[in-house]
Amino acid sequence: MSIVDNDPTNYQLPASPLIQVEHLTRIITNRTQKTTLLHDVTFAVPAQKLLTINGPSGSGKSTLLNMLTGIDKPTEGRVVFAGQELKAQGENALARWRGRNVGIIFQFFQLISTLTAFENVLLALELGGGGGLPRNAWRKRAQDCLEIVDLGSFAHRLPSELSGGQQQRVAIARALANNPPVLIADEPTGNLDSKTAYSVFNILAGLTEQGKTVIYVTHDSQLASYADARINLLDGRIVSAHGTQAIVTAKQEEVHS
Ligand SMILES: Nc1ncnc2c1ncn2[C@@H]1O[C@H](COP(=O)(O)OP(=O)(O)OP(=O)(O)O)[C@@H](O)[C@H]1O
Ligand SMILES: [Mg+2]
Repeated sequence: MSIVDNDPTNYQLPASPLIQVEHLTRIITNRTQKTTLLHDVTFAVPAQKLLTINGPSGSGKSTLLNMLTGIDKPTEGRVVFAGQELKAQGENALARWRGRNVGIIFQFFQLISTLTAFENVLLALELGGGGGLPRNAWRKRAQDCLEIVDLGSFAHRLPSELSGGQQQRVAIARALANNPPVLIADEPTGNLDSKTAYSVFNILAGLTEQGKTVIYVTHDSQLASYADARINLLDGRIVSAHGTQAIVTAKQEEVHS
């Protein structure tokens, strides 16, 4: 085991990661067998940076994201978000917490096909309570979020009238609607060609300059390498990390499935 921090600049930053993942283990037990999906995963998510979580299919990326959003609970270990342990909260409190703190972006966009881009973003404001804005400011907020992703003039198009990359940008606008500090994206560009994927990656990376912390899951190691901070997973273990503090629990060649 070793503490990794290859980035001297990052090392100088105050030790205040927004999210701290500590010794996270997830074991699923059914009648015949016990499967360990995550083994002792420890890392910090630096605030206002984009962190990529990279690894091949089945390495535990989505399992880990579900722990970060409180959708699933660890078997051992904990996730501490801005000083508060997620596990300690009940389901309703967690759902409220998620609505305020995390915007989630999915691989297949999951826009509502009968609503325009604008209405998809507005719906997020209605469901999330507007992120503290009064109701009469929500329409402007929805339009502003579309402007942030450079889709201001596409507001009245249906998802079927937009390209894949544009649909994903609408999904980013929707995730921004309630102004959460953290955006979490699970393979957001897995369904896009590499050029469009890169532009979506850049939009998300650019949001760190507006104070957002972005967690970006991808199996694309090339794309992951553009991030300032990254961890690599294999078979539920961290095999390498860069630009963030993480405990590497296995070397790539030591991992057996
Ligand atoms: N409920 C479950 N019961 C047993 N095994 C599971 C369960 N859910 C996931 N797994 C296994 O856990 C491992 C990690 O799954 P996970 O979905 O986290 O992978 P991933 O890295 O997100 O993969 P992908 O890139 O394909 O999305 C896989 O081997 C998967 O088959
Ligand atoms: Mg996955």
